[in-house]
Amino acid sequence: MMAVPFSHTLVERLAQARRVAVLTGAGISAESGIPTFRDPGGLWQKFRPEELANVSAFLRNPELVQGWYRHRRLVALEKAPNAGHDALVALEKLVLDFTLVTQNVDDLHNRAGSKNVLELHGNITHNYCINCERAATDEALVPLAEGTAMRCHDCGGLLRPDVVWFGEMLPEGAMEKAERAAQRADVFLSIGTSAVVYPAAGLPLTAKKWGAYVAEINVEASAIASYVDEVILGKAGAVLPKLVEAVERVRV
Ligand code: OAD
Repeated sequence: MMAVPFSHTLVERLAQARRVAVLTGAGISAESGIPTFRDPGGLWQKFRPEELANVSAFLRNPELVQGWYRHRRLVALEKAPNAGHDALVALEKLVLDFTLVTQNVDDLHNRAGSKNVLELHGNITHNYCINCERAATDEALVPLAEGTAMRCHDCGGLLRPDVVWFGEMLPEGAMEKAERAAQRADVFLSIGTSAVVYPAAGLPLTAKKWGAYVAEINVEASAIASYVDEVILGKAGAVLPKLVEAVERVRV
């Protein structure tokens, strides 16, 4: 039989778990063709966050910031969930109480069919008016001319993506729910995240402190790898389907 990169302990713990919480980062969408932030070739290697991902940059140069997010939104919409996203949908069906906390804004967990998803950093496919706060229509998300800002069709206010920028609060209640899920989890999986952006990166550590078995799945050790119970080196799209299949086999 081919060796699997995870322990039997993890399979057993997942098979017996009543509560499972998962944190995902950009790495789970890498195999869908969406660039990560900090890998070579990642977004923060090419762009400076302070020029694009904060409210003052947006107000200074709305066309530039809107254009960058519009491009990322269109990329996300043309890509599809991969085997890693699908495996988490299958895992959710096996577990009584399952929470998927994601730092990703690409909407791929929802499109894959995951149900209990907490989007800590928002969702790039949603846009709203900073003036009247109405959701933007698809027609409004097309610039009228090169170099002009996209504006609300109702009130003329500037449109912005529904994502969390540096210096902004997380969506109301999301972090509290994520914290509770981490505290209550029997098993916690941290997948495809460099685990350097807080408060999200603190969730696996909270889970560990409260007694969960914590495993990381990443192509390389993350910033919190030395604190977790098990580090599984591999691509999420390859490891997760095997892991979920193994859990299904133990449960029958
Ligand atoms: P990063 O780009 O910081 O980290 C991506 C992680 O995925 C790295 O640890 C890679 O080793 C790993 N990785 C790459 N390909 C993988 C694969 N196929 N399978 C498994 N792992 C893989 O992205 P995040 O940790 O998500 O915030 O970044 C966190 C936050 O920083 C983002 O949500 C964003 C950014 O600034 C905001 O926009 C608010």
